[in-house]
Amino acid sequence: MERTFVMVKPDGVQRGLAGEVILRLERRGLKLVGAKFMQVSRELAETHYAVHKGKPFYEGLVRYITSAPVMAMVWEGPNAIQAVRQTMGATRPTEAAPGTVRHDFALEVGRNLTHASDGPETAVAEIGLWFKPSELVSWDRAT
Ligand code: CMP
Repeated sequence: MERTFVMVKPDGVQRGLAGEVILRLERRGLKLVGAKFMQVSRELAETHYAVHKGKPFYEGLVRYITSAPVMAMVWEGPNAIQAVRQTMGATRPTEAAPGTVRHDFALEVGRNLTHASDGPETAVAEIGLWFKPSELVSWDRAT
């Protein structure tokens, strides 16, 4: 069983698409084990996006992610990391497959609605950054 970090970014929240993202992940069969609706601090944004520091879009990205609330979540399931990334689609919405969230609802890479961990190490690091262990809930989904 795998866990992954997923965030509906400010564009998704402001456009009223947080529910759509949750619906698609639930219907895929994944299990929500943690969720927080929150305003992101500059410090948290800089830590989360540290790997992009120095890139031309970094400042805009940090400013953007702190500009309005996000829905931060942890989802669990078999191959959850890959499953979530498939459901979200390619980072660049114009390269995302039809039927994916980013294809269906986005056009620009800087407003691509969601963030999802890109691998097992990143997932562990991001879950640890955004959630305390006590904020994650173990429960059984109906099958
Ligand atoms: P995300 O999955 O949150 O991880 C890094 C983010 O940087 C990415 O989604 C995009 O929103 C953003 N990003 C990546 N490349 C660019 C770019 N060229 N211009 C603006 N934003 C970008």
